[in-house]
Amino acid sequence: MNKYDGTPLELTDFSVETDVFRRDVVAGLRNRAKSLPSKYLYDKRGSELFDAICEARDYYPTRTEIGIMKRSAPEMARAIGPGAVVIEYGSGSSLKTPLLLEPLEKPAAYVPVDISREHLVEAAERISERFQDLPIMPVCADFTRPFDLPEALNAKAPRTAFFPGSTIGNFTPSQAQTLLRNMYDETNGGSVLLGVDLKKDVDVLERAYDDSEGVTAEFNINLLEHINRELDADFDLDAFEHRAVFNEELSRVEMHLVSKKRQVVTIGDETFSFEPDETIHTENSHKYTPEKFAELAKPAGWRVAKIWTDEKNYFSIQLLVADK
Ligand code: AVJ
Repeated sequence: MNKYDGTPLELTDFSVETDVFRRDVVAGLRNRAKSLPSKYLYDKRGSELFDAICEARDYYPTRTEIGIMKRSAPEMARAIGPGAVVIEYGSGSSLKTPLLLEPLEKPAAYVPVDISREHLVEAAERISERFQDLPIMPVCADFTRPFDLPEALNAKAPRTAFFPGSTIGNFTPSQAQTLLRNMYDETNGGSVLLGVDLKKDVDVLERAYDDSEGVTAEFNINLLEHINRELDADFDLDAFEHRAVFNEELSRVEMHLVSKKRQVVTIGDETFSFEPDETIHTENSHKYTPEKFAELAKPAGWRVAKIWTDEKNYFSIQLLVADK
C-alpha cells in the first residue's frame, strides 16, 4: 500500500550521466548533417515549456487526445482489463494518467518512467495523493534503451504500456519498431495503449510545431541552454532560430535550429563551426496513417485491437495486443 503520508516515494534512478550527454552531443554535432537527440529537450525548463506547448492554441495533439480519452477511457479500461500494472513511457507531468487510472478496474501498480527526474517525482507524488491505495513506483530512465522495472513489481500481474502524446512519432520507423519490441518484452506481451498522431494538412502540421505564441521556438532554443549549462558550452542563443518543416517524403515534421551567421561554438574543449543557414536537426515527429502504423507494429509482435479517433481524424489512440 502506498497511502500518501508525505514521505518520499521510492525512486528507481537510472538517469542519464553527464558524460553520456556530452558524448551524444559531440557525436551529433560532428555529423555532416548536424543533429541532436530530442530527448535532451526535456531538462526541467524543457519539460515546463513542453507543458506550455500542450496549452498553445496551434498545438492540436494534446487537446485532441484528451478529448478522445474523456470520451472513450471507460471503453479503453474495459479492453485492458482488471488488475493491470500500468507502465507509462515518458510520463512527464502525468497529466493524462488520471483519465486512464480512474476507469481502470483495480490497477495493480502505476510505474511512471521519465528522463526528467524532478518532473517525474513531482508528478508521481501528485498521482499518489489522488490514488491513495495504488502503489506508485517511479523510474527515472531513458526509456529509449531497455531498463529494469522495480523489483517490488508483481511478476504475475498483467502489464500494459501507456504511451500517450504520440511520442512514438519522435522515433524513426525503425527505432519505433525497436521500442515497440522493448515494450513487448517489458509487458511480457501484455498490451500497449498509445497515441499516434495522424497524417493531415501540411499547414495544420507546420503551425502546430511553430506556434504563434513562440512557445515551441523557446522549447527548441532551450536545448542549447541545456547544453551551455551542463556541458560548459557557449552557444549564443540569439544566433540561432527555430524552424519547423513537414518532410513529405518521410511523413514527418522536423524541428531545426538554424544558424543565423557563420560562427564557432565551444563545448568544453572542442569547437564546432557553423555556416550561415546551417541547421541542427533537433526532433522528428512522424505522422502516420492507421495502415502504416499497423504495418510498423506487426513485426514488433503487436496487432491493433482497437482505434479511437476524433471527428476530424487528427489523432488516434490505439490498443495493441500480442499478435499470437
Ligand atoms: C513529445 C511527441 C508529444 O512531437 O508532438 C511538441 C514533442 N515537439 N512540439 C510532438 C513536441 C515540439 C511532441 N511529443
